[in-house]
Amino acid sequence: MNRRELLVGTAGAGASLVVGPIETGFAASVKAQGSAGALPMPQPSRTLPTRALVQDPSRTLIERGWLFHEGDVIAPAPDGHNATYLSVKAGNALGAAAMAYDDSDWQSVRLPHDWASAQPFVKTANISQGYRVRGIGWYRRTLRLDPADRGKTIGLQFDGIATNATVWVNGSVVAHNWSAYNSVEIDLTPFARFGDDLNVIAVRVDAQAMEGWWYEGAGIYRHAWLIRRAPVAIMTDGVHCDPRRGADGAWSVPVAVTLSSIDRAAVGVTVDVALLAPDGKRVAGAQAAATVLPLEHATATLTLAVPAPRAWSIETPTLYTVVTHVLRDGAIVDERRIPVGFRTIRFDADKGFLLNDKSVKLKGVCLHQDHAGVGTAIPDALLRWRLERLKAMGCNAIRCSHNAPAAELLDLCDEMGFVVMDENRQFNPAPDYMAQLEWMVRRDRNHPSVILWSVFNEEPMQGTEAGVEMLRRMAHAAHALDDSRPVTGAMNGAFFDPINVSSIFDVVGFNYYQGDYDRFHQLNPTKPMTSSEDTSAYETRGAFASNPAAHVQSSYDVEAASWGDTHRATWKKIADRPFVAGGFVWTGFDYHGEPTPHEWPTISSFFGILDLCGFPKTAFDIHRAHWVDDVPVVSLTPHWTWPGREGQPVVVLVMSNAERVELRLNGRKIGEQAVDRIMGNEFSVPYAAGRIEVVAMRGGKVVATAAHETVGKPVALRLTPARTVMAGDDEDTQPVTIDAIDAAGRHVPTANLPTRFSVDGAAIIGVGNGDPNSHESEKGNARSLFNGLAQVIVQAGAGRGWIVMSATAPGLKPARLVIDRAAIVPRTQVPATYGGQAIREWRRSPAFAARPDPALAPIDGDNNSWAFVRSGTPVQAAAEGRWRLYRASVTPWRRIGAEGGTIRFASIAGKAELWVDGRRLASKAGAETGPLEAALPAGSGVRQIVLVVEAAADGVSGILGGVAMEPLAR
Ligand code: GAL
Repeated sequence: MNRRELLVGTAGAGASLVVGPIETGFAASVKAQGSAGALPMPQPSRTLPTRALVQDPSRTLIERGWLFHEGDVIAPAPDGHNATYLSVKAGNALGAAAMAYDDSDWQSVRLPHDWASAQPFVKTANISQGYRVRGIGWYRRTLRLDPADRGKTIGLQFDGIATNATVWVNGSVVAHNWSAYNSVEIDLTPFARFGDDLNVIAVRVDAQAMEGWWYEGAGIYRHAWLIRRAPVAIMTDGVHCDPRRGADGAWSVPVAVTLSSIDRAAVGVTVDVALLAPDGKRVAGAQAAATVLPLEHATATLTLAVPAPRAWSIETPTLYTVVTHVLRDGAIVDERRIPVGFRTIRFDADKGFLLNDKSVKLKGVCLHQDHAGVGTAIPDALLRWRLERLKAMGCNAIRCSHNAPAAELLDLCDEMGFVVMDENRQFNPAPDYMAQLEWMVRRDRNHPSVILWSVFNEEPMQGTEAGVEMLRRMAHAAHALDDSRPVTGAMNGAFFDPINVSSIFDVVGFNYYQGDYDRFHQLNPTKPMTSSEDTSAYETRGAFASNPAAHVQSSYDVEAASWGDTHRATWKKIADRPFVAGGFVWTGFDYHGEPTPHEWPTISSFFGILDLCGFPKTAFDIHRAHWVDDVPVVSLTPHWTWPGREGQPVVVLVMSNAERVELRLNGRKIGEQAVDRIMGNEFSVPYAAGRIEVVAMRGGKVVATAAHETVGKPVALRLTPARTVMAGDDEDTQPVTIDAIDAAGRHVPTANLPTRFSVDGAAIIGVGNGDPNSHESEKGNARSLFNGLAQVIVQAGAGRGWIVMSATAPGLKPARLVIDRAAIVPRTQVPATYGGQAIREWRRSPAFAARPDPALAPIDGDNNSWAFVRSGTPVQAAAEGRWRLYRASVTPWRRIGAEGGTIRFASIAGKAELWVDGRRLASKAGAETGPLEAALPAGSGVRQIVLVVEAAADGVSGILGGVAMEPLAR
């Protein structure tokens, strides 16, 4: 694993911290498994998570300062001809999309945001979405753009909005987006306003639309960015730099850089590309020239020759960095840093998957993207923690089912050493949907971790002529953008139909249908294949007997969906067949929704190897024994606290990768068996309280042990973080485990207690306990332990300090935890701007020789004789005269209307009088440019604001700066 420097501030603790990747090896969990009564989670580490290497200085996070309204806001229908005429003009959106809309009572939220994760569970809501009402929501944000950014390309990028989104900027609709799983990029440049002339972004999100049969969250749930680029700059995802090994074995990085220009003339630029080795040394470089025409794109290509690079692999994921600069007139105007890995991939019909010419069995899991407490709005650090849990199990492959993941997931897979099946959501070659596939390939084609493009999952048209034709087009599109990775899809049948899509796939994905592996291979001896999805076994974490009435599934790995099989039986069929590249267990983690085999009141799945919080089930130990090769592992199921069952037989399941295992109860040998690494070893043990221990041996030597002890009643709570240090960057997030311990300090696996907690120095952003039947809120500061465990997800505040957590439960000694908060420079965020109610749109009268009556107004429907102007539009005194009127009809925000407020003109040129509803409120006696302010009396409904302006002789007049109404200070 690479070690990366973090930006550690000077203010203190940073220097004493170990800065680098967290211990991801299984050693930690082996230790935990080995000591009786230990928490079934790794020991906390004292390392900070590293930040991804991808760098794009043209983007800044824009995640603070958003306002949110749950529910729809129906825009009033325009009343009358003139209102209709005006309503369809650019900039004139109505309702909550209007610039002037009163959002002053909306909730302040921070992105990423999944509003569904705070919803209660409702029996009549959709089962697949976890019985949560998703509904419709609105977001608004005011954005101040620095006048220094005038002339730049300005954009907004939402990495994911669930689901149907409409975006307006300054009252003009700028995007309609249909999928929660692609990013939405908006070119703000033509709409942008600068300085005190504030911009307003409005987003309506219809999350009633469903793209999946799983919990999809609701809202702007991935990162959001403000883009500011030079007029000629690199486009989003505009650098393609995926290393290739030639037939002669020599490595190169072909680089294609796509530029865009908003300039008014053709511009010549130089593209300079360097390759940096992991130690930062430049190992290759080249330049190319490009000319970009106004409002066009151009692509510069070049090739870097790289002698003997170090390989990227799962065990040693070495990353180089491609640094691209754009130079205009010799000055750098844009830059990207993109990690790349030197590795070869190949799927072979007999040998399966080969990475760097070596066979690697895909030990994979399918993942949805939600977690307890936070839903789909998963902070980057939590994504990393989830991958660490999988790495600890020996997992080496991720299938992003059934949609493109957050970009950060792939960055982490590159860094941590996972290979990825990157999956497209909709099987449809029509332009809107093809665009989603093409977006995914363009965004993800530089990642060494990505080894397969999956075009679909289980499509009923897979055995039809139309399905074949659809797939041909989609596979062609993927190959056109990336000639190095095979295209696959997850088929669930039709494998032997006379017409079926397997003929088009480069690698055939089998969902289930394990009994057909051999027949398919015999009939298609040159076609590579993998299990794309398998298992679908059920387990409730910490439960060791099924109880259908209570919707509880035994964790002995004995229950599975009729189309799947147990973890052990499934892996056996894959492990035994070299021609099956590997498997992807359904699923790595539990997820909200799809509570198969149950329905209400069960709200989340049973399929996970780990539960919704990432607490391990028995399946975790099973896969660890299957998948970890280089370190001896052994585990014992179940725990050993069964009061009342004395003398009754308890089935003990031992999973190990050693040669022999010996089981002991209270020091007495119960039995010894040769290890069955895949199916495990079972012992029937008459229960007696005490200590049960398993010893794993290789060559007669003890190589690993695991034990459980019968524990006493819970007497105290305990808080265990994943890390004892967090980055004080207002972003770092980690799960903290709450458990109960007995008088000897041992974990009590049977505790089901209500707990409450509080935290200083961090925010609680979600809670969970992995119980698929719990309807407790996933927000707030309370959660019951479920079979001994609960989880609090905390997000660190900013700066050097301490995070202090405490937890209480009735009758138990409380727990206290102190976490070090290190001084880490936060990622830059676009500052929040909360303006008052801006008055932006004015009607300006013709010029008059004498002071006009302030009551003068154009008649309704006259859209021609008075100009439509915005503030900031000065006029020169006309020959007709020096006087003009400015009129605006405005409905003040509710509070301003009810209580009154202030109306403020930042800058007026000329003498002026301010009239509101026929009353003169203030005047400006001097003709020189200056502000004007007045108290605005309370009053409901539409208000008529009139400014009478008299220019100085031959002078300029008009409303030069912003105009805003503000509520009275409280
Ligand atoms: C598969 C499907 C998954 C999930 C799973 C449950 O057929 O691809 O999305 O629904 O079944 O067993």
